[in-house]
Amino acid sequence: MWTIPFIAFWVLFFVTVEGYVVNPGPLVVATRGEVWPKPQSQNSSENYFILRPKQFQFKVNDASCEILENAFERYWKILQENSVPESVKAYASRTRAWLQDVSFLGYIDELNVTLRGRCEDNEFPSNDVVEEYTLQIAKGNFELSATTIWGVLRGLETFSQLSYYSKDEEYLRVNATIIVDYPRFKYRGLLLDTSRHFIPLNLVKLTLDAMSYNKLNVFHWHIVDDQSFPYVSRTFPELSEQGAYNPHTHVYNPDDVQTVIEYGRQRGIRVLPEFDTPGHTRSWGVSHPELLSPCYVDDHGRIYETGNYGPIDPTRNETYPFIQKLFAEVREVFQDKFIHLGGDEVEFECWENNPTIERFMQKNNITTYEELESYYIKKVIDMVDDIGFDSIVWEEVFVNGVQTPNNTIIHVWRDNWMDTMYAVTKAGKNAILSACWYLDHLETGGDWEKYYLCEPYNYGGSAAQNKLIIGGEACMWGETINEYNVIPRVWPRASAVAERLWSSSFVFDSIEAAKRLEEQTCRMNRRGITAQPPNGPGFCE
Ligand SMILES: *[C@@H]1O[C@H](CO)[C@@H](O)[C@H](O)[C@H]1NC(C)=O
Ligand SMILES: *[C@@H]1O[C@H](CO)[C@@H](O)[C@H](O)[C@H]1NC(C)=O
Ligand SMILES: *[C@@H]1O[C@H](CO)[C@@H](O)[C@H](O)[C@H]1NC(C)=O
Ligand SMILES: *[C@@H]1O[C@H](CO)[C@@H](O)[C@H](O)[C@H]1NC(C)=O
Ligand SMILES: *[C@@H]1O[C@H](CO)[C@@H](O)[C@H](O)[C@H]1NC(C)=O
Ligand SMILES: *[C@@H]1O[C@H](CO)[C@@H](O)[C@H](O)[C@H]1NC(C)=O
Repeated sequence: MWTIPFIAFWVLFFVTVEGYVVNPGPLVVATRGEVWPKPQSQNSSENYFILRPKQFQFKVNDASCEILENAFERYWKILQENSVPESVKAYASRTRAWLQDVSFLGYIDELNVTLRGRCEDNEFPSNDVVEEYTLQIAKGNFELSATTIWGVLRGLETFSQLSYYSKDEEYLRVNATIIVDYPRFKYRGLLLDTSRHFIPLNLVKLTLDAMSYNKLNVFHWHIVDDQSFPYVSRTFPELSEQGAYNPHTHVYNPDDVQTVIEYGRQRGIRVLPEFDTPGHTRSWGVSHPELLSPCYVDDHGRIYETGNYGPIDPTRNETYPFIQKLFAEVREVFQDKFIHLGGDEVEFECWENNPTIERFMQKNNITTYEELESYYIKKVIDMVDDIGFDSIVWEEVFVNGVQTPNNTIIHVWRDNWMDTMYAVTKAGKNAILSACWYLDHLETGGDWEKYYLCEPYNYGGSAAQNKLIIGGEACMWGETINEYNVIPRVWPRASAVAERLWSSSFVFDSIEAAKRLEEQTCRMNRRGITAQPPNGPGFCE
């Protein structure tokens, strides 16, 4: 039986969510040949060229290099797979209707690619990466040019998105277009947590593919945490042997890590490792319990050594050489200038009532646990600085008053982010934003919109403060994510963040964006990314 409240709920649901009238067909009709994220400047016409995938080739002016050749191969394949279904082809090849169409300008059989800067095969993208490019699709002039290889990669992605098939045609169309494009922020990241659940290598790679389709450029690898330690250390192999969920199947060995780094580099994506301390380190303590602080209070408030462990013990001298050795290895393994040091959510309960820690604090005139945490993190920041890393830390480090070097970036993530962002930039610190881009905060329907409408500059800072915000990151924490759902949960929701960080701040119309995101999602689906539907009822051609 349908109860009154139940009926009332659905009536309300359709009135508020769907409107009064439900029509057949998709809720949001996908665009054709529109770009995601939206370019900074684009003039397109209704006139078009025909791209015959098999005849098509990329042509490079001047010297080429491996990274460029690999990209050509990837995008050439994408154009083939983008092709028109056989049934349509058979019909269309009989009619060849476009030949009579006045908008048809001719065939595009090659794209001239000009890299004005150098292309060296050992180059990595960095914090100062330049990604601008110009793409011209005009009669007698099909050209992509950029000053860096990273700009060429972004331009190739855009070019691949311009091609679409028009229902009754045998080949792809590309409208005449001029695009001048560059990102609004240089740092556009995605965090993946591979500790709460292990994410197999092939899905990490697929994630990097999807990032490149959305022009994201920093893979923040939250590689270890309390629950498991899948990173295989050459210096301390016992960390993963005892701390991984499974030391044979649920680990990233040195080859895997190099695979991820190289796979990212080929796509213009930095790989930023995070080794979060002093909290979030319980898995380190399986093989190295001496690193952690023994807890002296139980759930009932009774004081004794409970046998549980809390954060890393900042008072033991031996802690620091251990961290030093591990991070020196991390420096050798990872290429990026930056390491993420964590520093978030340190639980103080296990420092309270611990006699060794109390003695240390008295001796060193440390009166609060925030100060004790600062004592630790300051030492670690200086240590990695000596090793040759710049550091990124979660906002607690700043909020707790640690004096960080100028090149340390503060990662803002907690709810009242506007106040924190104001304070961080007021203090002259560089910042990245994640607070409004937690992908684990699920809502029904097209919940990408709430990510889309979060504007990093909406915190009331000055222009000088805004300059210190170098970008942001979507965060996919791993509590309820594993190999089976990671891709559809991240995509296309992270695409919303990607456009916010790449496109101009004037691109803010989520109704217009919904149509392009519908296309972008189907495009990802065609390329093997199992992105979920963004908006509601609909279909992909
Ligand atoms: C491409 O051209 C077609 C007509 O040939 C037009 O309907 C469509 O809106 C154009 N698309 C863009 C992105 O300009
Ligand atoms: C490619 O560039 C070359 C050299 O600048 C030029 O001669 C040629 O016409 C261009 N081809 C296209 C398709 O734009
Ligand atoms: C597009 O057209 C506008 C107006 O004519 C012009 O200001 C802008 O520079 C053009 N953009 C590109 C990429 O050609
Ligand atoms: C730890 O190092 C400090 C400074 O080097 C030293 O004063 C202290 O005695 C050491 N503590 C222990 C327990 O070794
Ligand atoms: C301990 O620290 C407090 C405040 O940080 C300071 O006022 C005091 O002089 C310090 N005492 C010693 C013995 O260093
Ligand atoms: C760090 O930044 C502050 C404030 O902008 C500046 O006064 C100081 O000189 C900088 N220090 C270094 C080492 O660059």
